[in-house]
Amino acid sequence: MWRRSLSSFGFSGQALHSCFFPRTSVCTRPFATSMKEKVVSVLYKGGAAGRENKRILGCVENELGLRSFVESKGAEFVVTSSKDYPNSTLDKHLPDATVVISQPFWPAYITAERVAKAPNLKLAITAGVGSDHVDLAAACEKNITVAEVTGSNVVSVAEHVVMMILSLVRNYLPSHEIATSGGWDIAECASRAYDLEDKHVGTVAVGRIGHRVLKRLVPFDVHLHYFDPFKRLSPEDEKALNVTYHATLESMLAVCDVITINAPLHPMTENLFDSAMIAKCKKGVYIVNTARGKIVNAQAMADAVAAGHVAGYAGDVWFPQPPPKDHPWRTMQWNGMTPHYSGTTLDAQARYAAGTKEILENYFDGKPQRQEYLIVDAGKIVSPAYTKGNTTTGAK
Ligand SMILES: NC(=O)c1ccc[n+]([C@@H]2O[C@H](COP(=O)([O-])OP(=O)(O)OC[C@H]3O[C@@H](n4cnc5c(N)ncnc54)[C@H](O)[C@@H]3O)[C@@H](O)[C@H]2O)c1
Repeated sequence: MWRRSLSSFGFSGQALHSCFFPRTSVCTRPFATSMKEKVVSVLYKGGAAGRENKRILGCVENELGLRSFVESKGAEFVVTSSKDYPNSTLDKHLPDATVVISQPFWPAYITAERVAKAPNLKLAITAGVGSDHVDLAAACEKNITVAEVTGSNVVSVAEHVVMMILSLVRNYLPSHEIATSGGWDIAECASRAYDLEDKHVGTVAVGRIGHRVLKRLVPFDVHLHYFDPFKRLSPEDEKALNVTYHATLESMLAVCDVITINAPLHPMTENLFDSAMIAKCKKGVYIVNTARGKIVNAQAMADAVAAGHVAGYAGDVWFPQPPPKDHPWRTMQWNGMTPHYSGTTLDAQARYAAGTKEILENYFDGKPQRQEYLIVDAGKIVSPAYTKGNTTTGAK
């Protein structure tokens, strides 16, 4: 099925990995409505790159490759990048939308206000991983199924995390800037450059991404650590990685030179790294966050970097997205921030476009979704990675 979906997008099925699972039996709503289906998809603008490169499936121009498929099912298909509350194209179409597709990279925040404006909404699909931009409490209350393409970009993110750890620890970005601006100040480059070997690196969460980050770091001969309140690796996995488990986050922060955040955003992790938690990190720590911007308090992190308590901060996730021009992470020193793109490599886009198509196909055909794809189903949170509640407060 997966291979067939991928090939229908013209891709070879390369880079399929072990995180894709056989279909299991939990159902989304059956197809049992007489009103015309309307799928509203909110994607980022592709601009010149999107027009020229058809593999950028996640942009408005390329519509996740879904138009002919959706229309073949007799459904209306609206694709827009206009998402800001309350006068966006998304808002205009919400009253008769039955399905909304959005992406973490350009999140259409499906707040309780928007859910209230969408009485016919049955399915909210995340074309990617991470459904915190949907008010999950409101989705539960209104019996809206929330599904994402679990696993589709976890390799992409794990590779990115390793790249960012190395770039911070080795002072890569400032040194690159010295070269491109015509300089040759070796001492300046070296003054903040270290080897990663022998350092203590810890992941907050050991899910699909966290586990892959640990595996990729093994050859660097570092000391590995993890904290995850809901998951303990098997003794065999812990031994293979030579990783230390911590029962509390504080215990891990106290020993780590590098922290990588790989937990979902839910009420337990929102603002987890506030000034008090950052103060519990070792002085000079490097922090990489590709999970969600809201897990880290923006001003507290900028202050900690300015004070030298945090030696460098990198990631691709912000709140809101896109962030305002004056967001402190755009300009703070020693930052390696980028727009949200770690999970949207061209390889990842092929996988999450195919996964989105699969979810839609099951929905139209009244078939069960893969259990792993479901975040909210039949009025309940069914994903083990999320707790009850809403994290969209402050979104537009
Ligand atoms: N930057 C990107 O492009 C990008 C792409 C994919 C995913 N992500 C983010 O990464 C997150 C993780 O993705 P995944 O595929 O590894 O998810 P996953 O569901 O496989 O794993 C999540 C893990 O987080 C753990 N967890 C939950 N609450 C925690 C807490 N309070 N402290 C520590 N651990 C906690 C869970 O027990 C689970 O092991 C996503 O939810 C998403 O927010 C970002």
